[in-house]
Amino acid sequence: MSNAITAAQLKQLDAAHHLHPFTNHQSLRNGGARVIERGEGPYIFDSEGNRILDGMAGLWTTSVGYGRKELAEAAYKQMLELPFYNTFFRTTHPRVIELSRKLSEIAPAGLNQVFFGSSGSESNDTAIRLLRHYWVLKGQPNRRIIISRKSAYHGSTIAAGSMGGMSHVHQHSYPVYEGFRHVMDPYWYGEAFDGETPEAFGIRAARAIEDEILRVGPENVAAFAAEPVQGAGGVKIAPSTYWPEVQRIVDKYGILFLADEVITGFGRLGTWFASEYYGIRPNMITFAKAATSGYIPLSGLIIDDMIAAALMEHNDDFNHGYTFAGHPVACAVALANLKIMEDEHLVTRVKETTGPALARMLAKFKDHPLVGEVRSIGLLGAIELVADKKTRRRFDNPGRVGLMCRDHFFREGFIMRAVYDTMVCSPPLMWQQAQFDEAEAVIAKALDLTLKDVAHEVTA
Ligand SMILES: Cc1ncc(COP(=O)(O)O)c(C=O)c1O
Repeated sequence: MSNAITAAQLKQLDAAHHLHPFTNHQSLRNGGARVIERGEGPYIFDSEGNRILDGMAGLWTTSVGYGRKELAEAAYKQMLELPFYNTFFRTTHPRVIELSRKLSEIAPAGLNQVFFGSSGSESNDTAIRLLRHYWVLKGQPNRRIIISRKSAYHGSTIAAGSMGGMSHVHQHSYPVYEGFRHVMDPYWYGEAFDGETPEAFGIRAARAIEDEILRVGPENVAAFAAEPVQGAGGVKIAPSTYWPEVQRIVDKYGILFLADEVITGFGRLGTWFASEYYGIRPNMITFAKAATSGYIPLSGLIIDDMIAAALMEHNDDFNHGYTFAGHPVACAVALANLKIMEDEHLVTRVKETTGPALARMLAKFKDHPLVGEVRSIGLLGAIELVADKKTRRRFDNPGRVGLMCRDHFFREGFIMRAVYDTMVCSPPLMWQQAQFDEAEAVIAKALDLTLKDVAHEVTA
């Protein structure tokens, strides 16, 4: 059918019938959406025939690249064998068992049981309910408050959206769901005092959590929840002092620790989970996205033995679950995806090859007149666009220049995402040096074009 429909008609139909997520619907309808028709390796192709290098891995997802037959075949085979069965009424199936075992093998020590969902938001909702349920089981029902951070993104359901800190996500529901507090981000470039070292700033940012615990009373705090690297908030990478201090604080007050690894899970930092990279000991990890390289929805919550023991010790139901939890086809695709990652050593490559390649590539732009800072960790990177490099002065109307730059990237056949005026990237783990070289050439050109657009606003 799509062969008979022209590119222009597809856009019209999209505007007529499709509501997009996180969108200004008026402006989308004025401009129309770009129709992505297919993908191959590191590239996507739009309905106008453009080939685009995908520096965002879809949406932090397609680690093994597009068009992998192994994943399609795994889905096909599973659909014929058992396309669906639920896991509600004391039933299970081989793929969910195999995947649970595999995840407990690659998760940090002591995290051995998995509760599945279909999206990061869902699994964060599971975490929120289970964190609170745990404290009820432990006879401390007052421990309901979950502390998170201001630029955190934990999803878009009412609970996960409330746990996230972004005010524009709260707009339509806040304060529908109570019991969340948000503290400062560990964002040295944007929030340090003049002359404050990253190390001193990291301690200050972590102590903001302690201050909040003391403000609300430790006896009321259920957990601290955080992404090891804030992704959608702008690839904010904490200084080296931050996570050890956070771990000290959660240990001191005996509160639970939820690591949202929806972006950082499955090798993005060069270890299966970022918790391992940072040496932190979360009681729970949520994951989604790259578990299947985005080929099919699957998410989950991995819990530690202490929480699992609380569930086993009490003769009490945990009344929560999703029809598609542990979906057989999604589990089969996840298993095939993890096998590719292992066979192709994609996680060690991040540590040894691709992560350093990204860092080298970004470093080439640090002296560009528009660039305040470049930073990366594993295969997550960011370029801060500023009006004045020396004083870190931002452009007026945050997001305006980021969008200009993003559009130049797009026109040059490359995708990076604009988080206000911070350009972020998350390349697929399968990138080779050729893709880093291609990205470098486009970034150089797009930054120069953006500079031309805003030259009159930039302090040299
Ligand atoms: C860290 C983090 N947590 C949770 C989510 C929500 O995941 P989903 O969009 O699959 O609901 C996202 C999505 O980008 C995310 O980045």
